[in-house]
Amino acid sequence: MRRMVAEHRLHPADLILPAFVREGATEPVPISAMPGVVQHTRDTLRKAAVEAREAGVSGIMLFGVPEEAKKDGLGTAGTDPDGILQVAIRDVKAEVGDELVIMSDLCLDEYTDHGHCGVLDSEGRVDNDATLERYAEMAQVQADAGVHVVGPSGMMDGQVGVIRDALDQTGHENVSVLAYTAKYASAFYGPFREAVGSSLQGDRKTYQQDPANLRESMRELALDLAEGADMVMVKPALPYLDVLAKIAESVDVPVAAYQISGEYAMVEAAAANGWIDRDRAIMETLTGIKRAGANMILTYWATEAARAVTAA
Ligand code: PBG
Repeated sequence: MRRMVAEHRLHPADLILPAFVREGATEPVPISAMPGVVQHTRDTLRKAAVEAREAGVSGIMLFGVPEEAKKDGLGTAGTDPDGILQVAIRDVKAEVGDELVIMSDLCLDEYTDHGHCGVLDSEGRVDNDATLERYAEMAQVQADAGVHVVGPSGMMDGQVGVIRDALDQTGHENVSVLAYTAKYASAFYGPFREAVGSSLQGDRKTYQQDPANLRESMRELALDLAEGADMVMVKPALPYLDVLAKIAESVDVPVAAYQISGEYAMVEAAAANGWIDRDRAIMETLTGIKRAGANMILTYWATEAARAVTAA
């Protein structure tokens, strides 16, 4: 009876798998703060994409981890056609073609030696407009590599418009933009820093949002839509379900939520201690995010959860 009258249910196609690929890796590298998640080799990334596809997951969001020596102030490896993310996009595309929606993180923090999401001015502050030029180049190389959807996550003002223009001007009209619309300066990104080997000292409070603010997210939403976002995202997910619900109510584009590294780590850590029932907790968080209004959920449990809902 409960199954029959359920108001919301997860479907494998709701789920998108974020995945890390590390340049030069010959074995997958475990991420200690995210038990069960690895930095993939090119080879194991292809396998993970196939497994996700077979489980019914609809998309994969790729993050590149360059060799440490390739990081610099401008994040040059992020716009190198042979940079790790571009290589990974081509690999996954060759493996699964259009069977899985291939998405890419469009941000500089994985590639800069200072770890910020943009380039810095002479006083060490993130330079919004200089960063936009870098994002335009990134959009083009990622699209050239065959990505279906770019995910600008750097929270620079004007990023969606600049990226949309860059894509349109380079013959990539069909590449979609998933805007990180409401992205909060969150403690829950902690494990991600290890996942991408980030060099960041300090924080991102000058460009990510204050957890105290909801109205600000609605303004970011209006701007992203006006600039041409095809889909919008709220991130993190669990502490911001009210933001997600409000955005989902007020737009006519698909809405995504990103259940981030710290949300994953929190459940895994408690489960490893025997403090909570892991499988139930995972499903409860995902169902809650869907109930709040997400059409798509990025989660490190995507493949496992897709199998579980299929079996249920
Ligand atoms: C920025 C980016 C971050 C995440 C996704 N894209 C890190 C940040 O903004 O600090 C976090 C994802 C996660 O924590 O799982 N490139």
